[in-house]
Amino acid sequence: MTKPRVYVTCVIPSAGLDMVREFCEAEVWQGDTPPPREVIEDKVRGMDGLLSLLTDPIDAAVMDAAGPQLRVISNYAVGYDNIDVGAASERGILVTNTPGVLTDTTADFAFTLLMSAARRVVEGMDYVRAGKWHTWGPMLLLGPDIHRATLGIIGMGRIGVGMAKRAQGFDMRVLYHDPYCVEDKGGLYGAECVELDTLLAESDFVSVHVPLTPETHHMLSTEQFRKMKPSAILINTARGPVVDPDALYRALRDGDIARAALDVTEPEPLPVEDKLLSLDNIIICPHIASASIATRDKMATMAAANLIAGLKGELPPNPLNPEVLQQRDQR
Ligand code: DGY
Repeated sequence: MTKPRVYVTCVIPSAGLDMVREFCEAEVWQGDTPPPREVIEDKVRGMDGLLSLLTDPIDAAVMDAAGPQLRVISNYAVGYDNIDVGAASERGILVTNTPGVLTDTTADFAFTLLMSAARRVVEGMDYVRAGKWHTWGPMLLLGPDIHRATLGIIGMGRIGVGMAKRAQGFDMRVLYHDPYCVEDKGGLYGAECVELDTLLAESDFVSVHVPLTPETHHMLSTEQFRKMKPSAILINTARGPVVDPDALYRALRDGDIARAALDVTEPEPLPVEDKLLSLDNIIICPHIASASIATRDKMATMAAANLIAGLKGELPPNPLNPEVLQQRDQR
């Protein structure tokens, strides 16, 4: 029996890649940076499946370049703003993502950024490395307390709830803003649903956990920064373009807010000459919030399982547009 043919846009952990290779004839991009768009369009031609990364823009043109036999696009990420899911549905292509497995790892990292920014861990390391540590100082690298401070969570999905859970251990007051306010029956760890303006005005830490959509694009800009406390710290582990980078630069430079810790930026990767990197009240990491060994393995097996199920014509474990299967049945 001939195996289905798939294009994989990056070497993923072998836990998942071996599954893909066993079931499919797989061509895998070996580059250190993502395949250029023309390469994806060329390689995907005639393929039954595509395993993509969040760095690959998968739009209607890519789907049309693939041709009508493309049945499934499996994204190795929980976020799927890189894929035009509507265009996929119109073409009868299933799209899947990797939810759940990275929740705790990402929340761990968001909390790590919160703590590192508050307690100036990176500045401390730079200080030691620069040979400036000459004595213990009563005023050296002071920062705000984390315990009993107020955390504002924008977007109370799985990772937002993970932040609330961690905050409970630090006796923090937790506010959240989300289109859906739900009654806390214990699952929200005492977090209180408030308007965005209230959250911005009252929070010591603001942590962003919304997906990138047209509605959330630059949802934090000058107007929002001016509503925050001058002592506030912003954490973003969601998607870079949720925060307006020019406005953030001005807010950090002018003292509208105290500090920011970003795992995601606009653009990605952030050019080394970007003005945000000239500030000393910012921490920037290269989109690594889900980068634990175990979690990246789980994402790989989940992406592989989604891909294989879609190729078999079954409902994958994590479909974003399951209606596609019904539509196929009705054809
Ligand atoms: C995702 O999955 O969307 C993260 O940004 C990377 O793990």
